Amino acid sequence: MKFFIDTANLSDIKEAYSLGILDGVTTNPSLMAKEGIAGYDAVMKHYLTICEIVDGPVSAEVIATDFEGMVREGEALAALHSNIVVKIPMILEGIKAIKYFSKKGIRTNCTLIFSAGQALLAAKAGATYISPFLGRLDDVSTSGTGLIQQIRLIFDNYGFETEILAASVRHPMHIIECAEIGADVMTGPLSAIKALANHPLTDIGLQQFLADHAKVNG
Ligand code: E4P
Repeated sequence: MKFFIDTANLSDIKEAYSLGILDGVTTNPSLMAKEGIAGYDAVMKHYLTICEIVDGPVSAEVIATDFEGMVREGEALAALHSNIVVKIPMILEGIKAIKYFSKKGIRTNCTLIFSAGQALLAAKAGATYISPFLGRLDDVSTSGTGLIQQIRLIFDNYGFETEILAASVRHPMHIIECAEIGADVMTGPLSAIKALANHPLTDIGLQQFLADHAKVNG
């Protein structure tokens, strides 16, 4: 399972990358705004900086909602760095843009997926990744992992190469459940990734080992 970090915060990206387990990055306009990145040049520069930190796919989202606008923005993003994956919202104009980019060999990530039908459409258009938002589904009392399971079954039935990128991950159990289901990738915050390392018995065991060592070694 590939691990992406879902942030535009450079220090979180550097910390996750330094662990040696980070495969890529996803961002979105809200995450960019949270870091105060505003204006076309600043946004492009920030994407470039992320691409120079992480040797892996970096999803950069278009703002346009019409086909021509998405193509224009997506081509500029893709020209920025070979790590860039053009992130496109799950709307019909977006499906057309995904098909366009797929024919040109430009990687895409179809975002804001909340149903199996949306995932199927995006896969048929040739999306490299589809991003079902499990946390946001859980927020409205609908099973996010249930959707991942459904999409896994459909993609396996037909051998779609589109990767399932479990997004809107909130905590370590989301990651474990997605791994059990066979999601290809998960994207989440640094806190969820780091929390995978925690176990009280590990802490107690380590304390004991160090104390026993100190007893005889001073
Ligand atoms: C996906 O690529 C999105 O950036 C993201 O996972 C959304 O997560 P949120 O629901 O925590 O905002």
